[in-house]
Amino acid sequence: MMDFSFFNPTRVLFGRTALSQMATFVPKDARILVLYGSGSVVRNGTLKRIQTVLDGYDVHEFGGIEPNPSFEKLMGAVKLVRKKNISFLVAVGGGSVIDGAKFVAAAAHYDGDPWEILQTRGNRIQSALPLAAIPTLPATGSEMNGTSVITRTELSAKRVFKSEHVFPVLAVLDPTLTFTLPPRQVANGIVDAFVHVLEQYLTYPVDGPVQDRFAEGLLRVLLDIADVTLAEPENYEARASLMWAATLALNGLIGAGVPQDWSSHLIGHELTALYGLDHARTLAVILPAMLSVRKSEKHAKLLQYAERIWNIHTGSENERIDTALDNTRAFFHRLGLETSLSNYGLDESAVEALLASLRETHGNDYALGENRTVSPELARAVLEASL
Ligand code: NZQ
Ligand code: ZN
Repeated sequence: MMDFSFFNPTRVLFGRTALSQMATFVPKDARILVLYGSGSVVRNGTLKRIQTVLDGYDVHEFGGIEPNPSFEKLMGAVKLVRKKNISFLVAVGGGSVIDGAKFVAAAAHYDGDPWEILQTRGNRIQSALPLAAIPTLPATGSEMNGTSVITRTELSAKRVFKSEHVFPVLAVLDPTLTFTLPPRQVANGIVDAFVHVLEQYLTYPVDGPVQDRFAEGLLRVLLDIADVTLAEPENYEARASLMWAATLALNGLIGAGVPQDWSSHLIGHELTALYGLDHARTLAVILPAMLSVRKSEKHAKLLQYAERIWNIHTGSENERIDTALDNTRAFFHRLGLETSLSNYGLDESAVEALLASLRETHGNDYALGENRTVSPELARAVLEASL
């Protein structure tokens, strides 16, 4: 196992009563800004429930945060925070709203141009407003991590920042808040969480059996509950498992002490920035191609994945790995996600545009992935394999 430092300061309240307990953990004199998305929480009554829970507080609201939240929109919230002297943020929505609130939390305290937060990947953040996260879409794990992904629309740039200062102080996980999700977003969430686990699991062995078994457990649960939670939106137990699995998939636990890849995510972010594909949909295209192209580099863990997740025990090692990759693609298809760029109407010209965008984000000589082998040449091979 590799040496590690693990930090996670987020209090988690889980279950049907989580929302009603929330106020216990919000300072009595807080001046609160509730941030939300394009209106789902207004239509399904979640916002009303939060207003009730926060009755007695000085509460302001900021809605309209888009999927793949934009710097431009969020700067409006930063202004409001300063004007109203807000002291506490509550983000209610999907990963986009929670990520957006993290940016607002950091930008409100930031000395200098807030875009610098993204340019320096969060390294210069000294403090941030406290934030409570109420996820309504189990997917990103943003409710219990210190990561945020923000898009600057005018530059077609989607950038990541991380900081210990933007971990939510509170994550309120109520599976019933997900009952209104459209099937497309449920499927996206399952795939995003699944790929988060794979990006921390399918690297190379470092004798980390605890991390491996945690990861394999999460993958198996996601496979087990995928069909039922899509077919039965109000099946509480299935949604509860999905929600907790998605949170644990990216709260730092399974990635502590093991190598991490993230190259599929970084290429996927460019796909969203240029062509607007949903985050999870970019992963369903890029990840299988990435694993195929880097099969020999990831041989040992791919074989373990084939055996322990897909119960494949016969055939040559290469055949077993190929079958596991076929099964992974078939799983994404079964959930309604495409696994090739051409299915989204994209061709070779998109490959060139994506490669240019990757250079813009990571420099001309980037080297991504757990072994830093994902160079511009390798990224080209992956994108061509994903056509
Ligand atoms: O905006 P509203 O009206 O709320 O509708 C949203 C949105 O249209 C809808 N939705 C959410 N909860 C709902 C609901 N509709 C009905 N009922 C509910 N209960 O779902 C749509 C998608 O929401 P969004 O927040 O964009 O999705 P997701 O949670 O998948 O977040 C994606 C964003 O997170 C980033 C992605 O890059 C993308 O920007 N990520 C953040 C990460 C992190 N912070 O650690 C890691 C991830 O890998 C990812 O990169
Ligand atoms: Zn993701």
